[in-house]
Amino acid sequence: MALPVTSIPQKERVFAVAPPGLEPALEAEAAALGLSPRRVEGGVELEGPAGLHQEANLRLRTASRVLLRLGSFRAPDVGALTRGLAALELSRVWDGREVPRLSVAAHGSRVPGSAVPAAAARAWGLSSVGRAGALEEEGTEGLTLLVRLEGQECTVSADTSDEPLHRRGYRQEVGRAPLRETLAAGILALAGYDGAEPLVDPMCGSGTFLIEGAWLSMRRAPGLERGFAFERFPGFDVAAWEARRARARAESLPAPRAPLHGYDINAGALGTARRNARRAGVTLALERRDARTLQAPVAGPGLVVANPPYGKRVGEGGELPDLYRALGATLRRAFGGWRAALLVPDEAGLIRALGLPEARSLAVRNGGLRCRLLLAAP
Ligand SMILES: C[S@@+](CC[C@H](N)C(=O)[O-])C[C@H]1O[C@@H](n2cnc3c(N)ncnc32)[C@H](O)[C@@H]1O
Repeated sequence: MALPVTSIPQKERVFAVAPPGLEPALEAEAAALGLSPRRVEGGVELEGPAGLHQEANLRLRTASRVLLRLGSFRAPDVGALTRGLAALELSRVWDGREVPRLSVAAHGSRVPGSAVPAAAARAWGLSSVGRAGALEEEGTEGLTLLVRLEGQECTVSADTSDEPLHRRGYRQEVGRAPLRETLAAGILALAGYDGAEPLVDPMCGSGTFLIEGAWLSMRRAPGLERGFAFERFPGFDVAAWEARRARARAESLPAPRAPLHGYDINAGALGTARRNARRAGVTLALERRDARTLQAPVAGPGLVVANPPYGKRVGEGGELPDLYRALGATLRRAFGGWRAALLVPDEAGLIRALGLPEARSLAVRNGGLRCRLLLAAP
């Protein structure tokens, strides 16, 4: 079934997915870009002119994926679901030729999720539709449609991102316990980092906080050098997209506005950070040092951000409480007047060892592990 390509509608509704716990960071970031976000569980809803999904993919640092809303309708039974799917206007994302893949989520709905693929195939005149894998990890390659059933409501969206947005393109090597770029960017946002103050990561590993901090400081859009699913949509306007990218590129500064310093005890990790930074087009001051004896490299105030080792993930095990105690002591001794943002496992003993009783503590997840983000002024 070949669908005619219609003109692009003037308004778009977009859902930007946040990493778990980072909805407030994504909301703040989207608001700062003038996108008038509405925070909901799992992300933010945005509404705006045609091309909003491109802008969101290009500029949002914390979003892990951007979905274009295609429609919502009541689906109390399979018949209504099939009719609703058949009535959707899909021509802006689908040329009717390739077979779309479906990602289905059903929460307390009368219609079971398992009924959706057959209903969609019937609605769109196909012999079958494919099933999409876990979207947190994978690219979506062809057209992926997300169908969400909640109670009697059905919402259908198209993926516009393809590879998850933490894949900016610069990090081809990761350390032993890598941190997603989107989580790093969200943590910097929650810590109030604006790119105009010094940033220090005493345990920088592959350098994610520092590279994200540098891009933020340079006002460099995170999606400038990667591809997106929307480039395969029928009617995709290459010239308009290139103009959008050129505007973003012209806005970015040649260098960060403040110093960024990274340290690690492991020389191999520093090599990885250096190569990642080079690929990202940023220069970082990186040095092999032990966080237990570190001095502030520049006068503060500024932000110290760190993701200390987790026994479970990097195998340090036994000495972790000692290391956390020493890190807390470094913050108090050398970084008085600075702010600190620490991503740590949700383990009372380790958090106590840091000795930051006044810290604000937020629940976040890092690669499936329950963590706390501690925001402190040591
Ligand atoms: C969880 S990893 C950090 C990952 C990093 N955020 C990234 O983006 O790749 C913890 C890092 O702490 C480093 N580390 C462990 N003990 C240290 C110490 N005493 N001083 C400095 N770095 C240390 C490890 O080598 C490791 O690279």
